[in-house]
Amino acid sequence: MKIAFFGGGNMATALIGGMIESGVAAAADIRVVEIDPAARERLQAKFGVATSAAPDAATFSADVLVLAVKPQQMKAALAPFAGALQGALVISIAAGLQLADIGRWLGGSGAPYARLVRCMPNTPALIGEGVLGLYAAPAVDAAGRELATRLLAAVGSTVWVETEDKLDAVTGVSGSGPAYVFHFIEALEAGGRAQGLDAQSARALALGTVLGAAKLAATSDDSPAVLREKVTSKGGTTAAALAVLAERGWFDAVVAAVAACAARSREMGEQFGK
Ligand SMILES: NC(=O)c1ccc[n+]([C@@H]2O[C@H](COP(=O)([O-])OP(=O)(O)OC[C@H]3O[C@@H](n4cnc5c(N)ncnc54)[C@H](OP(=O)(O)O)[C@@H]3O)[C@@H](O)[C@H]2O)c1
Repeated sequence: MKIAFFGGGNMATALIGGMIESGVAAAADIRVVEIDPAARERLQAKFGVATSAAPDAATFSADVLVLAVKPQQMKAALAPFAGALQGALVISIAAGLQLADIGRWLGGSGAPYARLVRCMPNTPALIGEGVLGLYAAPAVDAAGRELATRLLAAVGSTVWVETEDKLDAVTGVSGSGPAYVFHFIEALEAGGRAQGLDAQSARALALGTVLGAAKLAATSDDSPAVLREKVTSKGGTTAAALAVLAERGWFDAVVAAVAACAARSREMGEQFGK
């Protein structure tokens, strides 16, 4: 199976690394179209994959084409593909961009291209710990979905959604979610330092807490809410902390942040899909 990547930046690098490492694809079967010569050299040296500055016949005849350029670059970048694909399953990882727009650009003057999957990955994919939201256009059959799942599972777990608009919500939760978690770690660390801990200890305690709590939540039969209640005794230390979070509207702020992110994802789709 031949896999072509269009755009060889951060996310493409994570996907290529994961696919080769997990054995789901061989380096010899992967090619990358990337305009930046330094990035091409990096990809060749790191993975031994073939690279080119522009799409060529081998790109158009690939079995799978992963679209991994920035959303604002996509329309202009896809011009050489108009009407050129020969049946590839196309997986777009571009934030916000809707499949109808990508299908139109790929179809050129002919019928819109229909074998399309949209994926919203997140940066823990760089270490194989991503969680990826996926949506398939109606023309993609079960085998196409299975292929997309198999390839993308190389960098994390996958969650399929039934309607494309849900990918805006996925972006709000998991696509941009790592940034909220990093921000929480920063705050926890700052709190520790304000209470007299040295920087190194505050970082180690904050990181270990988030990692351990996430693992516990992932492996426990209890929901996160029950786990929280179990460590919150009335009048105790955790209760004192949670009271401040409630008073300052922390929970609602996170819910509103997810909504703002989803709204921006929708807006970007409209803006860059024109
Ligand atoms: N990073 C994330 O957390 C994340 C999460 C979810 C989804 N995504 C999506 O993943 C996609 C890629 O993101 P990224 O962070 O990997 O971006 P990136 O590092 O900027 O990678 C995009 C690469 O594509 C190259 N490129 C641009 N136009 C091209 C063209 N016409 N032909 C060939 N190559 C071209 C860019 O080169 P230049 O730098 O020279 O322009 C760049 O090296 C985006 O659409 C983004 O929305 C990213």
